[in-house]
Amino acid sequence: MNEIRGQLWHGRFAEGPAEALQQLNDSFPFDRRMYREDIDGSRAHVTMLAQVGLLSDAERDGILVALDAVEAEMADGSFVAASSDEDIHTAVERRVTELEPAGAKMHTGRSRNDQVASDVRLWTRRAIDEVLDVLFRMQEALLAQAEQAGDAFLPGYTHLQQAQPVSLAHHLLAHCWMLSRDVDRLLDARRRTDVSVLGAGALAGSSLPLNPHATAALLDYPAVFDNSLDGVADRDFVADTLYALTMTGVHLSRLGEELILWASTEFGFVELDDAFSTGSSMMPQKKNPDIAELARGKAGRLLGNLTGFLASVKGLPLTYNKDMQEDKEPLFDAVDTVRLTLLAMEGMVSTLTFRTDRMAKQASSPYAAATDLAEWMVAQGTPFREAHAVVGELVRRALGGEGSLPALVAADERLGPEAAALLEPGVSFARRATHGAGGPTAVESQLERFRGRLELDRQRAASLRM
Ligand code: ARG
Repeated sequence: MNEIRGQLWHGRFAEGPAEALQQLNDSFPFDRRMYREDIDGSRAHVTMLAQVGLLSDAERDGILVALDAVEAEMADGSFVAASSDEDIHTAVERRVTELEPAGAKMHTGRSRNDQVASDVRLWTRRAIDEVLDVLFRMQEALLAQAEQAGDAFLPGYTHLQQAQPVSLAHHLLAHCWMLSRDVDRLLDARRRTDVSVLGAGALAGSSLPLNPHATAALLDYPAVFDNSLDGVADRDFVADTLYALTMTGVHLSRLGEELILWASTEFGFVELDDAFSTGSSMMPQKKNPDIAELARGKAGRLLGNLTGFLASVKGLPLTYNKDMQEDKEPLFDAVDTVRLTLLAMEGMVSTLTFRTDRMAKQASSPYAAATDLAEWMVAQGTPFREAHAVVGELVRRALGGEGSLPALVAADERLGPEAAALLEPGVSFARRATHGAGGPTAVESQLERFRGRLELDRQRAASLRM
């Protein structure tokens, strides 16, 4: 057994903790990352305690000075941990009290249960803001490429089979809109994160005249908990954030998968910049899309963080249980993973060279315009099902060697030369002009709409920060 080494809860114990307990129990190695949030929370708490008369102004000021000193030690790496520092909360309080005797009063009316929930909320709020910044940069990179793509077009795919040609800008914008939904989910998660739980105590509030609204205001929380039990037990905001990050990771994975295909010799649709690709240690000719592959791989890890966390909390009775200490590592890892993946993917996307000649060649098979041909007949009054059958039969005859599709179309009395002209490269996709369609005029207004959406999202994100 270890000796009792000044654990904050030592009073009730005659013996010190076992080594294995300490190793399993201590969260300081990973939760020290929240030292700013912990110290900010304590600043607000002691300020409130002085407001309601539980601390003198001199005691409050002494504690605030000590909190500044501890923050500086944490920031410059000079903080020396004690073996009794179980977590960031005990570490800060222990050190403040060494520096300032009034530190013994700073935990008045507070539990680590409301404290840790508040710290994680403050940390998550800041992390979401940082992820949003890189998400916006990623969207800008895709948008810039879409704007430069001009009238370039490529095959659109279903089942990874060539389906109908679409403009390159349209394809890139599809990824932009996916990421907009991630922005939306993160903003939503942020709203539910932004609730103060300080004052909930261990689980039941306090008999002391605390003012949770004052603490909330000092920490710029726009809302306050309604129920102390829910206040300390709620980790929904962690799950919400993990889901939003996982979905972002899944989107980056799908984009990554396309870039991997497009960079292959077989597709040859993109050339990767040297700075954002890697070589092979053995095969001199290789240039590999590692960033895109890692984006694809990291999505699995993000999914693991989300499901692992949900499994940890699913059976917990109210209120705080130590299982909840398992919220931080998946959350920190997910934030780090998404942020870094976004940064790397942003660099990769903004330095891509599109081989629009290869794209156009692949998209110029006359068969790709078969649907447009049927639609041309519909415009002349033919029922669609009949038009589908007519074109289908011509396709079958062309594939059977009776002649080229354009020649068969030109010679067919129901179609003729005007219809055959639709099969020229780049003609059919340009005719798709309905809302949200892949032709150039529709894409012009879509670019406009997306720019507006991005601007609006930036404003929404900015309005939440002080
Ligand atoms: N280190 C703990 C956590 O991360 C802090 C809360 C501990 N509370 C308690 N009563 N043991 O969840």
